[in-house]
Amino acid sequence: MHNLDAAGHVRGESQYLDDIPVQRGTLHAVVYGSPLAHGKLRSLNLEAARRAPGVVRILTAADIPGENQIGGIVPDEELLAGSHVHFQGMPVALVLAETEPQARAAVKLIEADIEPLPIITDPREAAAQDELIVPPRTFRLGDPAATWDACAHIIEGVAENGGQEHLYIETQGAYAYPSEGGGVRVHSSTQGPTAVQRHTARVLGVGMHKVEVDVVRLGGGFGGKEDQATTWGALAALGAFVVKKPVKLVLSRHDDLRMTGKRHPYSSDFKLGLSADLKLLAYEVTFYQNAGAAADLSPAVLERTLFHATNTYFIPNVRATAYSCRTNLPPNTAFRGFGGPQGMFVIESAIAKAAEQLGVPAWEIQRRNLYQDGQEFPYGQRLADCHAGLSWQTAEQKFKLEQWQAEVDAFNQQSAVKKRGLAVMPICFGISFTKTAMNQARALVHIYTDGSVGISTGAVEMGQGVNTKMVQVAARTLGINPNRVRLETTNTTRVANTSPTAASATADLNGKAVEMACRALRVRLMRHAAEELKLEYEGLEIYDEQVLAAGKPAETDWEKLVSTAYWKRVSLTENAHYATPDLWFDQTQEKGNPFAYHVYGTALVQATVDAVRGTYEIDAVRLVHDFGQSFTPGIDRGQIEGGLVQGLGWMTMEELIYNQEGRLLTNALSTYKVPDLYSVPAVVDVEFLETPGHPNAILRAKAVGEPPLMYGLGGYFAIRNAVRAFRPSVFPAFSAPITPEKVLMSLYAAPAAEPAPVHQAATVAPIKP
Ligand code: MTE
Ligand code: HPA
Ligand code: MOS
Repeated sequence: MHNLDAAGHVRGESQYLDDIPVQRGTLHAVVYGSPLAHGKLRSLNLEAARRAPGVVRILTAADIPGENQIGGIVPDEELLAGSHVHFQGMPVALVLAETEPQARAAVKLIEADIEPLPIITDPREAAAQDELIVPPRTFRLGDPAATWDACAHIIEGVAENGGQEHLYIETQGAYAYPSEGGGVRVHSSTQGPTAVQRHTARVLGVGMHKVEVDVVRLGGGFGGKEDQATTWGALAALGAFVVKKPVKLVLSRHDDLRMTGKRHPYSSDFKLGLSADLKLLAYEVTFYQNAGAAADLSPAVLERTLFHATNTYFIPNVRATAYSCRTNLPPNTAFRGFGGPQGMFVIESAIAKAAEQLGVPAWEIQRRNLYQDGQEFPYGQRLADCHAGLSWQTAEQKFKLEQWQAEVDAFNQQSAVKKRGLAVMPICFGISFTKTAMNQARALVHIYTDGSVGISTGAVEMGQGVNTKMVQVAARTLGINPNRVRLETTNTTRVANTSPTAASATADLNGKAVEMACRALRVRLMRHAAEELKLEYEGLEIYDEQVLAAGKPAETDWEKLVSTAYWKRVSLTENAHYATPDLWFDQTQEKGNPFAYHVYGTALVQATVDAVRGTYEIDAVRLVHDFGQSFTPGIDRGQIEGGLVQGLGWMTMEELIYNQEGRLLTNALSTYKVPDLYSVPAVVDVEFLETPGHPNAILRAKAVGEPPLMYGLGGYFAIRNAVRAFRPSVFPAFSAPITPEKVLMSLYAAPAAEPAPVHQAATVAPIKP
């Protein structure tokens, strides 16, 4: 089955927020954002803006009828600045005008008198000043301090990664109008309809039942609309509520780039101890997360960094500490991988550094330390059904790793200016919201009397194909043709109290609920059929719309069955609730069983660097991925390709630069480079690993949304290896993205004095081929 949305997208018929017909009298809203990154808001001069053509009303914090608060995990974020501003672009006032250009023109006339306060943009500086969002957290296994003496090699260093702009094609926005009885209806481009509903109700001072949020689909979210769609939904709703007119608020690309948070930059310290035969013995890591000016999802992102701090390697002694640091940047937020990629970049950097100092390929260290069943993650979960080894071995054999390395080495021998690098990137990613309670979902299924089916869930379609998956689950479970099934919009009055579409778990959670509801309906219909046909219930099934009795076609099909059931007053509607079994986590011990299962895979990445220009290409990515039993292979392959390229972009070219005043300098697509068609590797080979899947995965098809992003880390290390093939004496800083500028500088910079390992055994065990 192809993606349900394919035809609509190609024809331009798919509906997005901006396609919703605008009601007569709709006002257009534009936000006035703080010009300074930190300060005391002394006064606001709105006079000129109020007199500007078309302006109907300007709202500030004083106009909020309820609470001026949209913080999710920590209540530390005002919707509109009250007494202080905390980042450049922080919403201060909302201009409502008859047209959008009028509102935009009026915003330019607003003047704010702000008393400047010191600006922090660096997470380590924030930590030094004790500007922490939440207390630091530490995950522990064994005792690294007691292990260093037993290590043959100890490698220490620093790794830094930049942020990443989500660059969803559809910018943030919402369209709200007053509804009868003092409520509002909000169309929102959000991954979290319930989050928009909850915070809007709080801001308006009404019950959640008075706020209806509806989502058709998103033109991409990538985590950027898990929490941060709330601001725009609540602002549009505030306007509609106060002025009693429909209000549309859609961010311009420029406003979206400068006002919204992004993937978190991290600065991290690592110390890695190895045995003489390259076993990882001890690992100490400290993460400084640049959270921005408010908590947003940062504490949860921080937690996932800790969960993935050792990636897919067993290290018996681990101490991982993470600080969430408050800076005067827009609050950073969820982004595909949710802190996991940042954690993995540090351990991969540590392994790369060890390999460089010991003169072995990093993959010699990686493959000796892969997780195995029965071992324990630092967070206490025991490994079961681990495919780390299988995915590595399959990739190593299928893509002939050692031969490939030999070819790269041979190429580098004979090529003076172009140099190649090969890197292996294995991944292990935990599936579930790390907050156990969020792992629940509901589905509402109606069978209409003509046999067609309508389904509502909490899942939001944002390009990842979840609607297609839900239709497939329903059709399979009911035994009917998928074209009878329609997926309704995601709406808080039909399915309430939903978790956001996130954590790659949407298809699992909502799909299981759909499966449960459809199963209940099927059982009910089969009981009805048994009665009608006077047959034993036990032998009845439905397949391909035909009722079968003991495997043979019976006297009824789907349409007849549904219609007769209605006349016998059998309920054709079902609502099901699913909660992932056996999850728990004890934060006081930092131990538990947080994940339903893990996803594994191994990518081999080759890059070629032009050592005169510093430019490079990612030539080929060949990977083996653990999909379980994929039932939508086309969609799942698309998720791998998209995630991979997004990860490569983050690691190589996407460079966010804020100046000391907290102003985003890369605030347009002329200065912020994202991968385009030409930067996609010429070869992307995605092989499906044969595994049974997992019972917690929907129809045993494992979650696929986020894991492939982390294959992109391989691009960083492939380029780095190519740089070092040209100039083996250089040890570039572990600083992502590795832009062409950084490549060029490291190729020709003065040699950095790289300290030798703290101590090294007299004899290094021979490394077996
Ligand atoms: N794919 C597309 N095309 N667009 C998106 O916005 N978001 C990613 C991923 N794949 C995204 C995407 C993120 S961050 C997540 S968490 C998952 O999809 C969410 O959807 P799922 O749970 O259905 O995999
Ligand atoms: N992943 C993604 N989004 C989330 C999570 C998570 O683990 N927890 C809360 N929001
Ligand atoms: Mo994805 S970062 O969990 O929206």
